[in-house]
Amino acid sequence: MRKSFLVLLILGIMTASSGCGVNDISEPETDGEIKIGVTVYDQYDTFISSILEDLNEDVLKARNETGRGIVLETYNSAQSQATQDDQVEEMIKDGCDVICVNLVDRTAPSNIIDTARNADVPIVFFNRELVDEDMHRWDKLYYVGADAFLSGIMQGELAVDVIREKNVDKNGDGEIQYVMLEGEAGHQDAIVRSENCVNRMLELGVKLDKLGYAIANWNRAQAATQMEKMIKNYGPEIEFVFANNDDMALGAIDAYNASGMNRGSWPYIIGIDGTDPGLSAVKDGTMAATVYNDAKGQAEAIFQLAYRLSCGESLSGLELQGDKYIRLPYQKITQENVDKFR
Ligand code: BGC
Repeated sequence: MRKSFLVLLILGIMTASSGCGVNDISEPETDGEIKIGVTVYDQYDTFISSILEDLNEDVLKARNETGRGIVLETYNSAQSQATQDDQVEEMIKDGCDVICVNLVDRTAPSNIIDTARNADVPIVFFNRELVDEDMHRWDKLYYVGADAFLSGIMQGELAVDVIREKNVDKNGDGEIQYVMLEGEAGHQDAIVRSENCVNRMLELGVKLDKLGYAIANWNRAQAATQMEKMIKNYGPEIEFVFANNDDMALGAIDAYNASGMNRGSWPYIIGIDGTDPGLSAVKDGTMAATVYNDAKGQAEAIFQLAYRLSCGESLSGLELQGDKYIRLPYQKITQENVDKFR
């Protein structure tokens, strides 16, 4: 098996007597040390890498607070579901107490669920959401993410604010000519964000004219290439660029920078995520606004679930919906409040 990335973060040595906390209902199977396995669909995805960083910080903090030995094993599946399936087997052989999975293919969790269920190791899925039916295949499956439709609604509302405040309708035809940069086909956030953004704007009375769209798989370089083509096709006609995430919005900005087009004639460009480079672009005004996808909150929820499940500790207080789901809220980010997020 090709494993292109493995980080073993060993955070302190556990004394045999330390427990998980006051609510322990059973002892962990390791010698007091907790081993959390994490596999991500692509470690180079900006949003996912920020979740990993935050998760590392949570582990360090918990180690300091509890004095407990906590090991975080992190694997990159490099966009291969087969690789990810193997990684989960390896983590279980390796004695992980819990597995956190950012699925490559959110419709193909079967092998992973079977492997974990046979070994009785709980799974915390995150960011790439399984269908409800798969989530109910075992009671030790959890999901951490966000309500995708809300991010689309917020993006639409932010865009309407820009349209009401600025001269967006450059050709004065009463409609906003726009293009859409979409995330991976089949990803719950891509479809839902595009639809809800557009529908919300229509609901608020904005007339829209869709010039084109392109799938850029959440990726900045792919978005730049796609945007370059759309600039060639539609040139100054484009008044707004909607991107399903910040990296693709940044790719659009890269394409406009490379186009040599006068900055004053660029369209307004809007993203979702509030990643560090996304926030900088909102700050400097190249991105009109973005929607905060709470990587920190999601990492903390993943860690809390993983830690308590490893310890056999109660999950009470974690605000689980339907005993399985934790969804963090989104927030609107504009130049006015961007500093709060940096
Ligand atoms: C984020 C994207 C990210 C994707 C990965 C989405 O929720 O907004 O930035 O690329 O998840 O699955």
